[in-house]
Amino acid sequence: MRIAVPLESAAGEHRVALTPDSAGRLVKGGHDVRIQAGAGTRAGFPDSAYESVGATVVDGASLYADVALVCRVQPPTPADVARLPEGCTLLALLAPSRNGPLLATLASRNVTALALEQVPRITRAQSMDVLSSQSTVAGYKAVLVGASALPKFLPMLTTAAGNVSPARVFVIGAGVAGLQAIATARRLGGVVSAFDVRPAAREQVQSLGATFVAAELVGADAQTAGGYARAQSDDEARRTRDALAAHLKEVDLVITTAQIPGRPAPRLVTAEMVTHMRPGAVIIDLAAESGGNCELTIAGETVRSGSVTILGPVDLPATVPYHASQMFGKNVLALVTHLSHEGALHLDRNDEITSAMTVVRDGQVVVPHPK
Ligand code: NAI
Repeated sequence: MRIAVPLESAAGEHRVALTPDSAGRLVKGGHDVRIQAGAGTRAGFPDSAYESVGATVVDGASLYADVALVCRVQPPTPADVARLPEGCTLLALLAPSRNGPLLATLASRNVTALALEQVPRITRAQSMDVLSSQSTVAGYKAVLVGASALPKFLPMLTTAAGNVSPARVFVIGAGVAGLQAIATARRLGGVVSAFDVRPAAREQVQSLGATFVAAELVGADAQTAGGYARAQSDDEARRTRDALAAHLKEVDLVITTAQIPGRPAPRLVTAEMVTHMRPGAVIIDLAAESGGNCELTIAGETVRSGSVTILGPVDLPATVPYHASQMFGKNVLALVTHLSHEGALHLDRNDEITSAMTVVRDGQVVVPHPK
């Protein structure tokens, strides 16, 4: 099967969908992998590294000739879509709930579209889940961004110029990004606390050496069968906000990652709570793109409220492009292996993973299932 990997066209997107390692494994599996010249350069993977594993580096004009599968990171632009051959399959982050017109255009060109964000979070699909791998990157980078915005050290220091107390870091939402944020903040020497509504999160937080806050608010029924948190009732949300308000007064860096799939991010930090935070405190709101966990967050911007800084970064994985691409490429390799049979794509509608990801097929937009 011929597989094409384009140079990403979105501004600031430095990742690439396949690294030389993943491309080489597909070549060994009998696939013909074509990489657009320069596609991996910004992530630290030169064209020569792809050639050395047997992939073919081509210019943009010949990339799509006779291609069966196109693997990319970001959704294609209209110009990219116009160049896709009719009948091919596209595997990418497609944000299907926001990109109706894109899906309609893909359908009109008879392109089958598989949305990477729809991979179900089931054990069998863990190795294919780019949302999880990229959240790991985001959780790590959020702490670094927060640490550099803080007017303080993170670690405790004992120096001839005096002793420094460690900064207090609070992570709200201890899923994939949150747990990685906890681990990173601990490695940098912060005193870390965390909160989540799911009972399973408590042990995970504690096993990373962080304190679990407001454990009395965790309900046994807070988790759905799919492993995600359910939305809180108004009363639960009020009690959560009260508990968080007390704890927020005592911390320096807050990383918020709370999400309920398919819904706006829960509003957990109000403008009023921010007014009582320590001078110089920093909030990194990873849920900025889905509305923010903090009332003051503006996606992609830095907001100042008194002496508190609130950042809502939306592109953290793209700022660690080498390892983010390495993990993304491994996920794509696992998916392509799962989706192909005897060297060709075999999209089995009865397969839970394939059907969840398919957002366009047979010239029709298939209503995306919420993940
Ligand atoms: P996840 O689903 O693994 O974790 C979210 C956690 O929030 C879960 O543990 C859940 O129980 C918890 N939660 C839900 N409601 C809560 C509440 N009311 N209070 C406390 N905790 C609550 O999600 P993941 O993969 O860790 O992603 C977290 C967020 O980071 C998402 O919004 C995702 O879109 C975002 N993200 C942002 C990136 C960026 O560059 N800004 C990059 C990657 C992810």
